[in-house]
Amino acid sequence: MSVQKIVVCEDFRESLSGVLSGIPYDRLFVLVDEHTSACCLPLLSGIVEADAPVVLRIGAGDAHKTLETLSQVWAGLSNGGASRHSLLLNVGGGMVTDLGGFAAATFKRGIRFINIPTTLLAMVDAAVGGKTGINFNGLKNEIGAFALADCVLVSTEFLRTLDRENLFSGYAEMLKHGLISDEKHWAELLRFDLSSVDYGQLKDLVAQSIRIKEEVVAQDPHEQGIRKALNLGHTVGHAFESLALERGCPVLHGYAVAWGIICELYYSAVRLGFPTDRLHQTVSFIKAHYGTFDFDCTHYERLYELMTHDKKNEAGRINFTLLRNVGDIAINQQATKEDIFEMLDFYRETN
Ligand code: GLY
Repeated sequence: MSVQKIVVCEDFRESLSGVLSGIPYDRLFVLVDEHTSACCLPLLSGIVEADAPVVLRIGAGDAHKTLETLSQVWAGLSNGGASRHSLLLNVGGGMVTDLGGFAAATFKRGIRFINIPTTLLAMVDAAVGGKTGINFNGLKNEIGAFALADCVLVSTEFLRTLDRENLFSGYAEMLKHGLISDEKHWAELLRFDLSSVDYGQLKDLVAQSIRIKEEVVAQDPHEQGIRKALNLGHTVGHAFESLALERGCPVLHGYAVAWGIICELYYSAVRLGFPTDRLHQTVSFIKAHYGTFDFDCTHYERLYELMTHDKKNEAGRINFTLLRNVGDIAINQQATKEDIFEMLDFYRETN
């Protein structure tokens, strides 16, 4: 995989014009969902009109990250006269950048695309690093491909209109990046005042967070080794997310990851000596900002079963990423069922 250009914009419109003028294409397509069509598409006006872009609109939310939607996008590209030299702009959250990236990667065996993430989660995670795909057969991101956008244009101006829950959801992935990188960045993230956001400071933190992810991805684009560091909090987090979905009250991905981090840092402390003061500082921050996931010991078996289906598992073993300390990563760690129940006990005891 080649290198992905990432631009953290000072002036979004100027950056977009500059990026578009540097890429040869015959026809421009813009993919939006029903939210970004209304809120974000107007920000492209005056820049893309000369290209008479074809706008492709899809439904918003994970429920639309399907083969049917993908097929609509392929049809829109085909009916709009896209060739192998056309360019697709994906304007939206992670669902749009994942699905649009996959549509671009597969249409005529691959056309160029640019990601313009409009949520914090997409800026620091989904839109960066080349994972694209859709949900299938009841499983998240079951079908997909590694495909890098030609450019990811990050404008934190979009965050000014993002709701609090989605801001916090993306921030959980930033916290994860802090934990896997270095103590200074981790401490900065814990100090940041999420109740009264300083957008200038947030922009710097976002830029740093993206750099951390990029560095990891550059070392291991296809997740054979160190990229698994990015899975911290996700083994338990995905099980929480799936249980919440089964109970009919879905939770945002980043919330589930934050709660998963509590469990996995606890196990890091027990198993690898992760410092308990840092564990408690992180747990306090998460509890204060993300509330608690409500479950009791009658849910343990189901949570364990959900973890056994995690696609990160290898040779039938549940795979964890743990930390010896902030920035000191241990991938491919296993835990027994008893260990997992102990992590869940810890989570509930800290309520
Ligand atoms: N979201 C984790 C990764 O991109 O590997």
